[in-house]
Amino acid sequence: MLTAINPIETISLLQQIQWVADPVGYMEKAVRKYPDIFTAKIVGFGGSIVFVNEPQAIQQILTNDRKQFSAPGELNGILKPILGDASVIMLDGDRHKKRRQLVMPSFHGSRMQNYGQLVFEITTKVFKNLDINKTQNRSFTVRDAMQDISLQIILQAVFGLYEGDRCQQLKKLMSQMTELFNSPFTSAALFFPSLQKDFGAWSPWGNFVRQKEQIDKLIYLEIAERRAHPDPSRTDILAMLLSASDEEGKGMTDLELHDELLALLLAGHETTATAMSWALYWIHHLPDIKEKLWQELKSVTDPTDWMSIFRLPYLTAVCNETLRIHPVAMLTFPRVVQEPMELLGYKLESNTIVLGCIYLLHHREELYPNAELFKPERFLDRQFSPYEFMPFGGGVRRCVGEALAQFEMKIVLATILANYDLELAEHKPVKPQRRGVTLAPAGGIKMNLK
Ligand code: HEM
Repeated sequence: MLTAINPIETISLLQQIQWVADPVGYMEKAVRKYPDIFTAKIVGFGGSIVFVNEPQAIQQILTNDRKQFSAPGELNGILKPILGDASVIMLDGDRHKKRRQLVMPSFHGSRMQNYGQLVFEITTKVFKNLDINKTQNRSFTVRDAMQDISLQIILQAVFGLYEGDRCQQLKKLMSQMTELFNSPFTSAALFFPSLQKDFGAWSPWGNFVRQKEQIDKLIYLEIAERRAHPDPSRTDILAMLLSASDEEGKGMTDLELHDELLALLLAGHETTATAMSWALYWIHHLPDIKEKLWQELKSVTDPTDWMSIFRLPYLTAVCNETLRIHPVAMLTFPRVVQEPMELLGYKLESNTIVLGCIYLLHHREELYPNAELFKPERFLDRQFSPYEFMPFGGGVRRCVGEALAQFEMKIVLATILANYDLELAEHKPVKPQRRGVTLAPAGGIKMNLK
């Protein structure tokens, strides 16, 4: 029986509220009692689910998620009000596999070199336009600036949109829509469908619905225009999806295109913006790290040699340690047991829902001694297996944007360090807090441009 695995005993509704309000507190309390595996009653899954953070068990799940386990898209339904149900995130089985094959080449490591100059230009443009001269101490909110950068990059990669009215409108609307879920309180509507009530433009859900309608309209307009004026020289993702067809020669419908583009836009900028914000926080919180990064960056003779910057060992270690201590995505997407099986000595019945708990995995003391300390050197001293360090998940749903996210993080950080002198505006610890289904720095981190 499922409940035979270390159950969290608190009553279900209380657990659900705790999970939404304070996910880190919830996970840390549970893991103190049950170190490797426990069942929890969190919202979005209609019953008990199993949280796993033991590396070998995670390996067993993620290397078998086409046989012993499945990865049904319908279990990602919490994202449906935002993403619809026709994107790679919502598909499963053969359709999921084919869609991934379609999307993945655009995010392949070999494509990254093409993005180097663009990432550099967008970063310098955003810093130039920061509206900081008017503010006391020339301060700005780091997460907003990082979101501005990552949104422009993904708009360029997905649509080939860099300038122009539609690009500006999409940027503004996407930022406004994601800000609606910027705290545990406002994120609650995603988890409790009874809160998804449209009481007009001034009600929280009504506001979301209206923003989303405007975004949808712009995406459909872009699709229509691109269908009407095909341009074979374009290399963006929309161009690729427009030219794709299945075995019967059928192309993607407008709805499928819309959902896919929206999923890539959202998944492709929210997470990376948060990761870069955390990295800037730690680099400026610990001056030794900033100094080491500076020294390393000085060793690159050509500042536009993006691949050399990308390969810098200490910069890589800083990015890895950032994604270890603050993995942004706390959990993998759900996997489901296909036939009764054993995991860590427990029997799992068919249909049991299992989640890899990335946050708890990354805070295991035997893997990461003094796990609460930010120490990039851990990644220089030893190699971690893909099931010990997995900010991008694994198996059939492994993040499609991993290469872009890592490349973007490094080039943005290197550009900022080489060109701007920043300091933290407040010297108090910044806590992770729920932002939709992710974890982000509470308050967005304030910095001064010196
Ligand atoms: C630091 C940045 C990022 C982090 C931490 C992150 C993390 C993750 C994680 C943990 C998963 C689930 C994997 C699993 O269940 O095993 C995932 C899936 C996904 N990510 Fe990312 N991601 C990031 C950036 C991106 C970017 C830049 C894109 C797109 C351009 C992207 C698109 C996706 C998509 C489409 C999926 C679903 C894949 C599927 O269902 O097959 N992500 N990501």
